[in-house]
Amino acid sequence: MARLAVNIDHVATVRQARGGDEPDPVVAAAIAELAGADGIICHLREDRRHINDRDLRFLRQTVKTRLNMEMAAVDEMIEIARNVRPDIVTLVPEKREELTTEGGLDVKANPDQYRKVVERLGHKGIKVSFFIDPDTEQIEIAHKVGADIVEIHTGHYSEAKSQSEEEERFERITRAIEMSAGLKLGISAGHGLNYSNIKRFRYLPQIEEYSIGHSIIARAVLIGLEKAVRDMVSLVKGF
Ligand code: PXP
Repeated sequence: MARLAVNIDHVATVRQARGGDEPDPVVAAAIAELAGADGIICHLREDRRHINDRDLRFLRQTVKTRLNMEMAAVDEMIEIARNVRPDIVTLVPEKREELTTEGGLDVKANPDQYRKVVERLGHKGIKVSFFIDPDTEQIEIAHKVGADIVEIHTGHYSEAKSQSEEEERFERITRAIEMSAGLKLGISAGHGLNYSNIKRFRYLPQIEEYSIGHSIIARAVLIGLEKAVRDMVSLVKGF
């Protein structure tokens, strides 16, 4: 049975739209756990555009399942992770101008750097996951430099524009999963997964965990809207 880890970044995105303190991603994490989530994920970005240092600290104190901190492999973040000690760190490439994480890590370009990052985090008992395109060579190198887990990037699959493109991209994911399983890596998958395109993944039972954010928060807004409006209507009607 696969696990679901919920990414709560976009609760913080809504908060940041007004610069206040609502909605609180820490409360959202607690609700996700009460609903059965197996883990909570947040991405502390260099520009703090959604999740901030306070959120991460409070999440560390309150998350009862597993806290997974997504971050770039840079000194500032490594030091924060070593202090806060999330259960898992997921290393992602990060560009300031991107809307969301765009591609997987290029471990091949700098294996020694990644080996050192794994060591620095591993010393604090933190498991390290590498967010990687479904590219067997990158997976092999991630394994060599000490990754505990690979998270296979499903974003390109989720953006396929035709049936044949989707088939071809799913096939690449399948090969990547088989290679990762052969190397005895922990296996996760995520990015762009929604209530429809996730269905094919039932054929890949080797995937242990799914990392999903945007589609869940988007659905929550629509599903929750009716009740939120009714609550305000009944308040106003009582005047
Ligand atoms: N995995 C990683 C590494 C990500 O960066 C993100 C987005 O923050 C996700 C999974 C979740 O993607 P989505 O929000 O599209 O479900």
